[in-house]
Amino acid sequence: MALFQDSDHKNIIELSGISHTYDGGQSYVLQNLDFLVEDKPAQGQFAVILGPSGCGKSTVLRYIAGLQTPSEGTVLVHDKPISSENRVGMVFQQYSSLPWLTVLDNVSLALAYQGVSDKERRERAMEMITKVGLAGHENKFAQYPTLSGGQLQRVAIARSLMANQEILLMDEPFGALDINTRLQMQDLLADLWRDIHPTVIFVTHDISEAVYLADDIYIMKKAPSRFVEHIPVDLPLHRDREMKRDQRFTDLVREVEDRMIAIAAE
Ligand SMILES: Nc1ncnc2c1ncn2[C@@H]1O[C@H](COP(=O)(O)OP(=O)(O)O)[C@@H](O)[C@H]1O
Ligand SMILES: [Mg+2]
Repeated sequence: MALFQDSDHKNIIELSGISHTYDGGQSYVLQNLDFLVEDKPAQGQFAVILGPSGCGKSTVLRYIAGLQTPSEGTVLVHDKPISSENRVGMVFQQYSSLPWLTVLDNVSLALAYQGVSDKERRERAMEMITKVGLAGHENKFAQYPTLSGGQLQRVAIARSLMANQEILLMDEPFGALDINTRLQMQDLLADLWRDIHPTVIFVTHDISEAVYLADDIYIMKKAPSRFVEHIPVDLPLHRDREMKRDQRFTDLVREVEDRMIAIAAE
């Protein structure tokens, strides 16, 4: 199977011919890496990236966020190089909100930069705050322990979606959360995705989380790294917890696990 689909859709994200070296070309972290994500209007796509630690998953997200540029190759978002106009936000494992601002101010910050009026900013931010389940907490400071770890990640997701509803980059966002909170956050994300249908690029080490959330799973190999496997997740679009008991779900988890082990041994 081709690593990336070749259909009539345009690509929302296109990385091509990417290589990255930190020592002037003696060794390569990434080499000949391509990564194409199609723009599926009114549907979005949920792409999950798996791969060993240090293979360059965060680097790929940083390229798309415009925080880093590769030594070679091109990075396009909506067919354009990254600039201040098409900036994309990112949700990290560690909390990525501003602790000296309230939840409301954190979420509405991007709109302030866009010159939206006070009243509209408040309304739109409150709508997003309600979607991520934080209504009633909008005037609290976005800091621990005023808010819990899960609540802070909700702020980070709302902040990022407010800045750009089309693309959401998430780098091991639930890695520091306890298991119950993590499961709740997975369901929140699945619901938000159906509601707002952004294109999500999500990095995790948790294969069950990957299968639960993804449309498509992309696996990277160790350095010199690139994407080596694409596993489409042919489960119904609407995911719920019951599905984890289905044979197809457990088969997919096994399949992804087997591929990861095989790739690591190559
Ligand atoms: N400033 C740097 N100098 C040298 N190597 C670096 C630097 N920054 C990152 N790397 C290397 O780049 C590789 C990819 O890092 P990263 O994208 O964070 O991997 P991942 O997120 O998959 O764990 C790692 O092997 C890391 O050691
Ligand atoms: Mg990383």
